Order: sequence, then C-alpha cells, then structure tokens
Amino acid sequence: ARPDALPRDMSGKRVVVSAGGTREPLDPVRYLGNRSSGKQGYALARVAAQRGAQVTLVSAHTVALPEPAGVDIVNAGTALELREAMHKAAGEADIIVMAAAVADFRPVSRADHKIKKSDRDPDPVALTRNPDILAELVAARAAGKFRSIIVGFAAETGDETGDVLTHARAKLARKGCDLLVVNAVGEGKAFETEDNAGWLLAADGTERSIALGSKAQMAAGIWDFVLNSGTYPTG
Ligand code: CTP
Ligand code: CA
Repeated sequence: ARPDALPRDMSGKRVVVSAGGTREPLDPVRYLGNRSSGKQGYALARVAAQRGAQVTLVSAHTVALPEPAGVDIVNAGTALELREAMHKAAGEADIIVMAAAVADFRPVSRADHKIKKSDRDPDPVALTRNPDILAELVAARAAGKFRSIIVGFAAETGDETGDVLTHARAKLARKGCDLLVVNAVGEGKAFETEDNAGWLLAADGTERSIALGSKAQMAAGIWDFVLNSGTYPTG
C-alpha cells in the first residue's frame, strides 16, 4: 500500500513490536535458533508508523530486512535481552505486540571459548527454560505497572488432541493477553488450499479469520482488529 493511502488513525499511539527470532548462544560462534524471518513484525511496525503511530521495534535476528522508516529500532539477540528491552519499552506503550519467536529454552552455560571437538562423543547440551516474556508482560500489567493492550502471536498445527483453533483458544486463555494472532502452519493439504492464513482471537471471545495476503495486508488487518477491539484504551 502507498503510505499516503493509509489512514492516520494511529497517530498519538505508542506501539512496541517485537520481531524476529532469538538466538541462544552455546559458545562465541554457535547458537540455538529458529527460522523466524521477522517479516511480519517488521510489517506491523512499518504499517503502524505509516498510520501515524510512534513505534519502537525490538528486533531479534531476522533475514536481511530494510529498517522501516520512522521507527525506533532496539536490537535484542537473546530471549533475556529481548525480555529486558520489552519491559523497558512497555511502560510507555499503548499497544504491545509480541511477534518475536522467543526460544523456549537456552543452553545452561555459554562457553567463553569455541567448543573444540575431541576423540570422544560430545556431552549432551544442557538446556534451561527461558522466561515467558508475554506472560510476564501480562503479569506486570496486572500488577499496575502499565496499561497497554497486549497482543500475542501463535503458530499452531492441529494434532490428536485438537485442531488449530482449539489449541489457539487454549493458548490465549493460558497467556492472558488481549488478542492472539494465529497462523495455521505445517502439515496438512487442507492448509494449502485454505483461503485463510489464520485467525485473530480476542479475550472477549471475538474471532475473525484473516485472509491470506501479503505481510503488509496482514499487518493492516491486525491493526484494524486491535483498534476496533473493546479493550483499546481511549485518551
Ligand atoms: N513468547 C514469549 N516468551 C517465550 C515464548 C513465547 O513472550 N519464552 C510469546 C511469543 O512471542 C508469542 C507467544 O508467546 O507471542 C506464543 O508463543 P508460542 O511459542 O506459540 O507459545 P508457547 O507458550 O511457547 O507454547 P508452545 O511453544 O509450547 O506452543
Ligand atoms: Ca514456544
């Protein structure tokens, strides 16, 4: 979309978006990571800025993406760095979107030097849980630290215990955020012929499917849903 075609309906709003995938270091040259491109989070940041919002983009690792114009970028490589950056930015925010793919686990220790191979088999990599940043933000808001709308993301597949939406509704309830953006991913021919890329689920039970489209179109639909949701703060 051309910037001049977009409404300025987010002007005066402060938005914080996390994007990309965290990398959890094993040693100075190796990490545990994930395949998040960061594109959806960057599109959300760009579209919000085009619609007049003041945007902070907390960026983990992404494929090479252009920096969205008029957006403040904070780099955060690991889950612990991203956590710190989000808590710092949250106090000022009207809307927080956790689009980043945060590693659920990190290596217990990070070697100071490159791990060398030897003749014997390597030790298994010991992992520990990372904090759930989204859940922490919800708890911090409940404790009165800020009053932002909090939006989570989920990529789900169906399995023997339930379909995509069943899992997504349970995740929304578990996380306690206001809105969950759900992408249907992975296996199943149904998805390949499916028109819908996913769903938007609100804590008040409102649900909307999002049509398959560009990341910018998805971003616009997500912001429309946030702006129209009953939880949107006024003033
Ligand atoms: N998230 C987070 N901190 C984590 C893990 C996830 O803030 N340590 C956020 C993600 O940014 C996303 C949402 O939580 O907005 C859902 O992430 P997801 O990986 O789908 O949920 P998990 O609770 O980690 O559940 P699982 O991976 O087991 O499905
Ligand atoms: Ca996870």
